[in-house]
Amino acid sequence: MSPKKSKSQKNILQAPKGMRDLLDDPFYMKQGFYEKAQEIAEYYGFSGIELPILEHEEIFTKGVGDGTDIVDKEMYSLKTKGGDHLVMRPEGTAAAMRAYIEHGMGALPQPVFIYYDGPFFRHERPQKGRYRQFYQFGLEIIGSPKAVLDAITIQTGYQILKESGKDISVKINTLGDTEVRKEYLRELKSFYKKHKNSISQKDLKRLETNPLRVLDSKEADTIAVNEDAPTLIETLNKESKKHFKQVLEYLDAAHIPYEIDNTLVRGLDYYAHTVFEYVTYSEDGETSLALGGGGRYDGLAKVMGHTKDVPAVGLALGVDRIIEIAKEGSFNPKIRKKPKFFFIQIGYEAKAKAFDIIEIMRKKRYPLKHSLSKNNLGKQLAKAEESGIPYALIFGKKEAIDGTVIVRDMRTRKQKTVDIPKLADYIKTLK
Ligand code: HAM
Repeated sequence: MSPKKSKSQKNILQAPKGMRDLLDDPFYMKQGFYEKAQEIAEYYGFSGIELPILEHEEIFTKGVGDGTDIVDKEMYSLKTKGGDHLVMRPEGTAAAMRAYIEHGMGALPQPVFIYYDGPFFRHERPQKGRYRQFYQFGLEIIGSPKAVLDAITIQTGYQILKESGKDISVKINTLGDTEVRKEYLRELKSFYKKHKNSISQKDLKRLETNPLRVLDSKEADTIAVNEDAPTLIETLNKESKKHFKQVLEYLDAAHIPYEIDNTLVRGLDYYAHTVFEYVTYSEDGETSLALGGGGRYDGLAKVMGHTKDVPAVGLALGVDRIIEIAKEGSFNPKIRKKPKFFFIQIGYEAKAKAFDIIEIMRKKRYPLKHSLSKNNLGKQLAKAEESGIPYALIFGKKEAIDGTVIVRDMRTRKQKTVDIPKLADYIKTLK
């Protein structure tokens, strides 16, 4: 009987729960998605920024908000040897605002358009489309309250998502400005207090920390009560109504199909005015998946300790989910090319000179496959055949001494010996 292994021994050769290696298609699709998303963002006037993976804990406890699931349950926090409390970023908006303030971007012409991408970390229960390390592509427009910017953000994200080949719907709502929210939260709290015996215990607790999340509850008892809950739309003031109306008018002008969803509140505290989510539906229309979301966060800078108000709007797209649902071939990265040549070498002399041949091909941008660790002609030819690559370059001891290469058409089996200096010109003539 094998000795009993401790839990850590058992799992050491597996990635941590909710984290995974991306290889083959997922690797290249992620790369291709980033390329496409960055290209579209650049056309819409955004510039790239690389944000650190770690930030001070307060960036998120203040920014995203105590009482949200992300902050209360899902952050990977660590104490450094120097005693700093840092967090593996669970999202990018608060970090982008920190960068805007740190670099004095307020002194630049406003607003500032930025995009970022990379891994984010949330200690959630893993399932399909939900990971503890996941990837986002984010856009932020910082420094202006104008409704047209909410619309251009939604439009840029929509155009990126359309590249997946799937039908995308936009759900949109408004949370009103800070005053409206305060008033609404008061009404909501008093409504739930009247119904405290009919909603779940879990939601009663949430009512104290984050009443808006009760509206989003998945608990059957609460869902029933929610049907009569006051809606924020009824509480909206004139300014908030005007802003929302303008955003919708711009979306109409951009021909973006949207659906107003008054139950959409989102799980982060910093939003005011517009909030939205992109969803795609399963083929039977039964289930929906959020591919991204965002909104306006005019109050965030002050909450994070900045002296001035900095109005801003942005979004983040869930890269893992997008590449999982995307139609084949939607996100081919530029570096991934179909090889036209299979390089076969036999013997030490050929192997030593192989580096030169591979370099000639790279410089002329001919993607190549090879099996440099092999020596046997038959096995390498079989591999070339199996990969369906149209040409083989055969390079043995004789060719290495003569300074030639045999170019073989794998379909007709015809071959020709070519001098190495003329190789690049010769293969240009091949179909
Ligand atoms: P969020 O809704 O928390 O927003 O995340 C955006 C998207 O990231 C989600 O719609 C989903 O597609 C993806 N996502 C979130 N969590 C996971 C996970 N555990 N596994 C896989 N995908 C996930 C934000 O993060 C805000 N910072 C968006 C924003 C930018 N608002 C204003 N500016």
